[in-house]
Amino acid sequence: MDGNGRWAKERGLPRREGHRAGAESVREIMEACKELGVEYLTLFAFSSENWSRPAAEVHALMALLERFLREKAKDLDRQDVRLLAIGQLDRLPAKTRTLLDSIIARTASHSSMTMVLALSYGAREEIVAAARSLATDTAAGRLLPEAIDAELFSSRLQTTGIPDPDLLIRTSGEMRISNFLLWQISYAEIVIVKKNWPDFREGDLFEAVEEYQRRHRRFGAL
Ligand code: IPE
Ligand code: MG
Repeated sequence: MDGNGRWAKERGLPRREGHRAGAESVREIMEACKELGVEYLTLFAFSSENWSRPAAEVHALMALLERFLREKAKDLDRQDVRLLAIGQLDRLPAKTRTLLDSIIARTASHSSMTMVLALSYGAREEIVAAARSLATDTAAGRLLPEAIDAELFSSRLQTTGIPDPDLLIRTSGEMRISNFLLWQISYAEIVIVKKNWPDFREGDLFEAVEEYQRRHRRFGAL
């Protein structure tokens, strides 16, 4: 979800107004994914690098996240959506973390769709943590190096149990991945959309899915 700041700047508004408008897109996209029958929706909401933004912006983003969680809790129940989170969640403010944990627990049995929030998330950190956990097991004699394969490696990532994404959408026209799910997107189809995230709504999602449907996925084979 990129381009909230630019969206606000174009309108002469403070950046937090862009984030507020972006939260509306999240609501709409979540419902649209549910309607389309998408089983897993992962949103890159806050990166491990975003902590270096000015404190006021970080604070505004956390406040928005809390508001979103509080307001969305009932809808997640009603729509049978399960919430999960990946990232260095222990870096979140205690209040935010407690709220997040409570909604994850409360929606654990929902099964129509899973919404994964990537919060304080960085793919390199995730991969390093997986490597470290395998190294720890190997050093302790619990694991033979030869037993390490892609499947075992995947199981040590935070996304264990979550299928790899089929489609990756990036808004605001940026042609880069920015440390998002580096391992998991190996075969994802990438759609770059020019619109900033606050302008990305249901119709844009449908267009991206249509684009995805026109692609021929070969997974390296013929
Ligand atoms: C995406 O919008 C939202 C977050 C990173 C939290 P940005 O805040 O990155 O907006 P731009 O890229 O400055 O326009
Ligand atoms: Mg950005």
